[in-house]
Amino acid sequence: MTPRDILVTNALPYANGPIHLGHLLGYIQADIWVRFLRMQGHTVHYVCADDAHGTGIMLSAEKAGITPEQLIEGVRVEHHRDFKDFLVDFDIYYSTHSEENRELSAYVYQRLQQADAIATRSITQLFDPERELFLSDRFIKGQCPKCKAENQYGDNCEVCASTYAATDLINPRSTISGATPVPKDSVHYFFKLPQFTAMLKDWTRSGTLAPSVANKLAEWLDGGLQEWDISRDAPYFGFEIPDAPGKYFYVWLDAPIGYMASFKKLCSEKGLDFGAYWNEGTTTELWHFIGKDIINFHALFWPAMLTTAGFRKPTSISVNGFLTVNGQKMSKSRGTFIMAATYKEHLNPEYLRYYFASKLGSNPDDLDLNLEDFTLRVNADLVGKLVNIASRCAGFINRSFANKLSPLVAEADLISNFQQHANEIAEHYNNREYGKAMRLIMKLADDANAWIAEKQPWVLAKAQPQSEAVQNICSTGLNLFRLLVIYLKPVLPALAAQVETFLQVAPLRWQDSTTVLRDHTIGVFTPLMTRVDPDKIAAIMEASKSSLGASEEVAVIDSPLVREPIAAEIEFPDFAKVDMRVVKIQHAEHVAGADKLLKLTLDLGLGTDGKPVLRTVFSGIKSAYEPEQLIGQLAVMVANLKARKMKFGMSEGMILAAGDGKEIFLMAPHAGAHPGTRVT
Ligand code: MSP
Ligand code: ZN
Repeated sequence: MTPRDILVTNALPYANGPIHLGHLLGYIQADIWVRFLRMQGHTVHYVCADDAHGTGIMLSAEKAGITPEQLIEGVRVEHHRDFKDFLVDFDIYYSTHSEENRELSAYVYQRLQQADAIATRSITQLFDPERELFLSDRFIKGQCPKCKAENQYGDNCEVCASTYAATDLINPRSTISGATPVPKDSVHYFFKLPQFTAMLKDWTRSGTLAPSVANKLAEWLDGGLQEWDISRDAPYFGFEIPDAPGKYFYVWLDAPIGYMASFKKLCSEKGLDFGAYWNEGTTTELWHFIGKDIINFHALFWPAMLTTAGFRKPTSISVNGFLTVNGQKMSKSRGTFIMAATYKEHLNPEYLRYYFASKLGSNPDDLDLNLEDFTLRVNADLVGKLVNIASRCAGFINRSFANKLSPLVAEADLISNFQQHANEIAEHYNNREYGKAMRLIMKLADDANAWIAEKQPWVLAKAQPQSEAVQNICSTGLNLFRLLVIYLKPVLPALAAQVETFLQVAPLRWQDSTTVLRDHTIGVFTPLMTRVDPDKIAAIMEASKSSLGASEEVAVIDSPLVREPIAAEIEFPDFAKVDMRVVKIQHAEHVAGADKLLKLTLDLGLGTDGKPVLRTVFSGIKSAYEPEQLIGQLAVMVANLKARKMKFGMSEGMILAAGDGKEIFLMAPHAGAHPGTRVT
């Protein structure tokens, strides 16, 4: 086997929200590949970083009252911890907001300039006159020009799927300030992508991409490429374009250069040769692992930029499909928008690694995490098949043979049959056909279990605990187990480490599958993995439902300014049906057993009969207010809402509060308003 030298990258996650299970798919896929190649003795450098630039980060930081630098460093640390928790083992987890990246981005840009690959011209865009910034499509909403649906983003309509320019929206508004955007001109910088069409047509068909990915790209290539706008106007959080004050690189220009920057930092830490992996003509490999939504950035813009700047092009781009949970897009309300941290609190990350591996192939197909299937699969394969082999055999060796494996092996054929599968399994790993590898490994695990069941060492042991036969059978069983663990180590590195301790062997490499443990003293067996408890799944879903679950701090900056869409238009008489009144909170108290509710007694002044009107309302504001704070305060209630029976009693109306599930603010009239007055 010729040794390979490979630089592997994973897409750089945006620094504006927590890592969720959907993200993890592509990272676990790459990590398995890296671990496999390293086990085979190849040299692999594995780098990643947070993608820290853009308007979204700038606005989030502003909202949180911190600098963008503070925000992105906090998120970076959190992301890195999440990846570590899932055993995704980067050599470096850097940030695109680094000096290395600033220099490399400027360098690449200057090379593009020199190659006459940059054009400048003035374009008209929508501008938020209040916040004084240009609005990208996702910060503009309005009515769809085709189907007239309300609340559609500036580029396409989710109702009728038509695409259009933001300037075509009817009644557009800025989602940042609510202001009506105005058209404004400004000079932009463009990368002249069309001149690379022929090169890209060749490159995308040169075996660098899965055929389905190349086909997707052919749609763009055949349709004619557009020049790519690589500049943004201040205010923007990013790198200012050299010799263009007030103009910044668009986040997607410096993001892939971030791969180089991360590696450059690693080179300075470890004394590696940067040029050996990036210079034109090198024989080392460069692999990018990305999700299917960002193919064009990696397979069109990026190779064109690299060649123009005098660097090598990627060897290959591995593309993953999207994760669905229980057959549907991940959803907060269904409790399936699961953060990495939430999962980790309840379940072993290796279960997820195994489940993903068992369903991953080299094509960018979407992958469904069906939580019931997940439970069954993990319990059946990892606990029922794999770990079972060891737990059936280890006790006898520990108890009756002073931890010593036999000198001979009962079934040399069985063991060598297991060994002969090493190449086929390796081939599957190398081709990123992990599902095929897992099926083959589990088939072998079935064979091992069937063989042990047939030999019944427990029956022999009853008659004669120290018989050679028992030692031979169990030694064979543990050797089969060891081979399976070698084959699974790229997927289950933590389990493999436990097994290395148990078997008292050095870290297992792929090559170790050619050897057998004879006359070898092992350690004492301790349980390796427990079954997935369905209650834990329920707990994860519950935690994922409650606003944003465990990662609240990061969740606050998750698109903070894009609120719930405005509901469908109503006529005035509809509105007039709602009878809202000023009330005084006469009394407020906690409700025993309720986590969210306070019980309020509301004073609505005097009724038409001259008697005081009091209402009891249960209100979900406990997280934001202490009862004592509320007593004597004015509020607004919906007075004609039909009374509802709740677990804790009747609720006779509702009080108004602004809330997005994270924060709650009670609506209150100005001081002096009289209880009972109608609100219109
Ligand atoms: N910042 C860019 C990538 C820049 S690379 C130079 C980005 N970030 S992301 O946070 O949105 O996504 C990070 C990775 O996770 C991407 O590869 C993306 O495709 C992937 N996924 C995000 N959601 C996903 C699923 N639901 N399922 C599978 N992969 C998903 O894009
Ligand atoms: Zn529409």
